[in-house]
Order: sequence, then C-alpha cells, then structure tokens
Amino acid sequence: MLMEQCMACHIPGGSGPFRLDRLEDVRRRIVLVRDQILKREMPPVYAQSELGPISPFHEFTDEQALLFQRWQQAGMPEGEPPEHVERRLEPALSAALTADVRLEAEGILSQVSVKVRNAPAAVAGIQGLHHPAIRQILLYRGNKVNPNRDHVGPEGELIASFSPGFHGPPVSIPVEGDVMMKVVYQPTGKPERVKLTLLPDAPNRNAEWISLGRDDWRIEADKRLNLETSLTLEEDVLVAGFLPEARHFSAMLQLVAKTPDGKEQRLFHARRWNLNFPGAYYFQTPVRLAKGTRLTYRALYDNTETCPVNKGRNPQPVSSGYGRDQDRFWMHILTVKPGSAE
Ligand code: HEC
Repeated sequence: MLMEQCMACHIPGGSGPFRLDRLEDVRRRIVLVRDQILKREMPPVYAQSELGPISPFHEFTDEQALLFQRWQQAGMPEGEPPEHVERRLEPALSAALTADVRLEAEGILSQVSVKVRNAPAAVAGIQGLHHPAIRQILLYRGNKVNPNRDHVGPEGELIASFSPGFHGPPVSIPVEGDVMMKVVYQPTGKPERVKLTLLPDAPNRNAEWISLGRDDWRIEADKRLNLETSLTLEEDVLVAGFLPEARHFSAMLQLVAKTPDGKEQRLFHARRWNLNFPGAYYFQTPVRLAKGTRLTYRALYDNTETCPVNKGRNPQPVSSGYGRDQDRFWMHILTVKPGSAE
C-alpha cells in the first residue's frame, strides 16, 4: 500500500520532504506516517469528479487503515514490493530532447520559461521531473514568451502539464516545431541545475484543450471573492482530463456540467486547493459530454490574513498573473473528438 500510494513523491529527489521507499525510513517516521494516513492527509487527494476517479492517489479505505495499524502492531515486518510500482517512477523511453534549466536559490513559488527547439511529434512524459524543487512543467506551442523573463505566462496554446506524482495524459497531444516549457518550482535554498528530457510518443491528432477563465478581475485586500464563467459545448466531446490553473489565493475550485436535459454533475472539484500539488487530473477512460452541455467554472479566492501568503504581512490587492500578489482563474479541459480515441 505504501509503495503504491507514497513512492511517486517520497523517493530520493522526489517532491515529498523525505524518502519512504525503504522500510527503515517508514519505521523511523512511523508516528508521523500513521498520523498522516489516519487523518487522510496523505496521500494527497485534492480533486474529485462525480464522473469517475481522476486522482492518481486515493485515500486509504477503512479496511486499509486497519490493515496498516495491524502491520504496525505486528512490528512492521518486511513485505514484497508489487512489481508494477518500479515502472511508474521513471518512464523507460528513449530520450529525445534535453534542456538544462537553472533554478534560483530563493523566493516563493517561482517559474522559468525555456524554449525547446524541434520538439518530438508528441510528448509522453518528462524525465527529470522528480526533483525536490519542481512542482509542475507546462508545455506550450509557439514561442511568444521572452525566455529570459520569469513571472511571465506564455501566451501560446497549452500542450500538456506534467507534475511529480501525477500520471501523464491518457492521450498524446501533437507538438509541432518549437515549444515553450514553463517550469514551476519552489526554490530549495541553493541554485539548482535540472536536466529535463522530453520523452517522445506517437501523436494523437484529435486531442485538444478547451479553456475557461478570465483575466479581468481583482481581489481587494482582506476580501474573499467568488469568480464564475461558463461556456456551452457546440459538439459532443469526450473529456479526458482537467488542468486547473490556480495559485496561492485559490481556496476551492469547481467545474459543473449541466446537460441539455437539466441534470447537473460536478466534473471537477478541489475542496481545498493546495499549490504543492499543481497537477493535471485525468480519467482512466474519457467521459462523454453531449452537445449543448453548459460548463460552469467557479473558484473561491481568499485574500484575508488566513491565506498562507499573507502570513505576517498586510494583504495586497490581487490581480491575474504569475507574480506573488497574483493568481489565476483558468480551467483547461482536455478533450478528444468522439470516435477517435474511444
Ligand atoms: C503527490 C506527491 C505525494 C504523495 C503521493 C505522498 N506525499 Fe507525503 N508529502 C508530499 C509533500 C509535497 C509533502 C510536504 C507537505 C505539504 O507541503 O503538504 C508531504 C508530506 C508528508 C509527511 C509530513 C507531514 C508533516 O506534517 O510534516 C508525511 C508523514 C507524508 N507526507 C507521508 C506520506 C505517506 C505515508 C504517503 C502515502 C500513503 C504520502 N505521503 C504520499 C507529497 C506526497
């Protein structure tokens, strides 16, 4: 259970604060591990859908929690690792394209954009993602961004998002020519050099992102704000996954689908958004939505002193962007044309 649910992050160089991939590590931290498991804090399950599982991790069931406690009482004996876990850690594909990325030593969540020339036809994954500083890597088509400037959002079209511990997209998205790679990272206290390698795949020409959101808003200091935006589908689509774009001030995110017959379902729901886990979420099998379905995206922002960024300082007005006093109100939905990848 621990191998399956913890090792995507708690490995050397992983995003978790310490390793849990050896029995001695788990034994040494058993009080904390037990506490996190029983409180359902770990593994992190930050988003759910009424239409099927989307999180790569799941809360331990009551039976599993009991089993875990019995194992602890029995003196934490060694078990056999399930064979398929190893494979999930690093995809074993041949390297296609490598970028050397320099990360700053200090700051709160930062980002750097890097241009990648002649990317492979489609990208299946990124090697080097399991670095303690890295939170998310976004790929954009086009090269409209000045690669020497941080805190700039690429204007290009989204290709894919990769995060430590989150699976890659269930469909491959075509890439043509140059791409911008945006690396979102939490500085570790010393400058870091990370080698990132794009892993190639066969392109699936029918996958694309639908984006819902706005940039024309402002959250005053000491206020909470609800934002909402909608669109109606003009054709049937298969929804493969979700990429919420949200930062420090975002507290709750929700995407609701209202079908033409008036039925409402929650496609995506993050009860408490946590920027430590800024991943994309995918269904195992894409889910069909009919033409005429109305999609509404809502997000709640907290710019009061309870927001962690405002700890020990006066809240400032917040606008759209990637800086410290900025946040995002965008939800990207990965879709596939029915009939193509079913
Ligand atoms: C998707 C990555 C990921 C997975 C999977 C994951 N963790 Fe974590 N874990 C983290 C991160 C990141 C932190 C740092 C705490 C935070 O910022 O929320 C953390 C923190 C912890 C802590 C310290 C909490 C504290 O209060 O100091 C424990 C214990 C822990 N994880 C245990 C586990 C166990 C046990 C599992 C599996 C059942 C697990 N984690 C799965 C990423 C992960």
